Amino acid sequence: MTALEAVGVDAGYAGVPIVRDLHLAVEPGEVHLLLGPNGAGKTTTLLTLAGELRAIRGAVRVAGRETTAPLHRRARQGMALITEERSVFMGQTVKDNLRAGGASIGDVLELFPELGPHLARRAGLLSGGQQQMLTLARALARRPRVLLADELSLGLAPLVVDRLLVAVRAAADRGVAVLLVEQHVDKALSVVDRVSVLVRGRVVLSGSADELRSNPTALAELYLAFGATTSTGDPTRTSVSATADSDQQGRQ
Ligand SMILES: Nc1ncnc2c1ncn2[C@@H]1O[C@H](COP(=O)(O)OP(=O)(O)O)[C@@H](O)[C@H]1O
Ligand SMILES: [Mg+2]
Repeated sequence: MTALEAVGVDAGYAGVPIVRDLHLAVEPGEVHLLLGPNGAGKTTTLLTLAGELRAIRGAVRVAGRETTAPLHRRARQGMALITEERSVFMGQTVKDNLRAGGASIGDVLELFPELGPHLARRAGLLSGGQQQMLTLARALARRPRVLLADELSLGLAPLVVDRLLVAVRAAADRGVAVLLVEQHVDKALSVVDRVSVLVRGRVVLSGSADELRSNPTALAELYLAFGATTSTGDPTRTSVSATADSDQQGRQ
């Protein structure tokens, strides 16, 4: 059964849609990568699917059942959301952070043994990468059925990005349904199953990661749609859609 699904969802703020007519499904055991330029509506999508924002239109289904429950209730049914803000308690020790999150220390150390020597340290003294390992470990150690992770690896060193992505993949291989927003496109493509590209609130490209890996043209278009990291800013360059180009230019 589909773990998480958006059916014709409009999502936004104060009744004004940012994301329109979203259809998206995440199956158990699958990592679904949501890509798109800044301001495309990725975070809005995640918050809406997690129950932090109410859909303006359409339906959100969790395990096949339509729901409007807030996140704290969905959390009890196995939904975990990692937001863009690092969500560790900086003044507390690593161990206390894990306890507060209801995580088993054994599970966490199995996932990220490198946290072992730091259990008694205040989380604020960890590196950014260690803090994100802690964040991810805490979420995964609660054994969620659905994990939504927003820009988990933002600003982190490549090796740490790899560690986080491998852990996300391993979670999916144990059956977790994962919806991932990630800026390291090529790294992410090597661990995900499906990809949707959001541009100005609309899905403009969606397919299996295999298709995208084996179709360099689609991949190049995807990179262009993605904006700042690879775009030359040349308006004559082709892209996934005209809106992708105008969006990039508006933001550079
Ligand atoms: N709390 C908010 N109130 C009103 N507009 C918002 C709010 N948060 C984000 N937005 C707007 O929604 C659009 C999409 O933002 P967001 O979902 O954060 O995009 P992304 O995560 O893809 O960068 C942006 O234009 C942003 O300004
Ligand atoms: Mg965002």
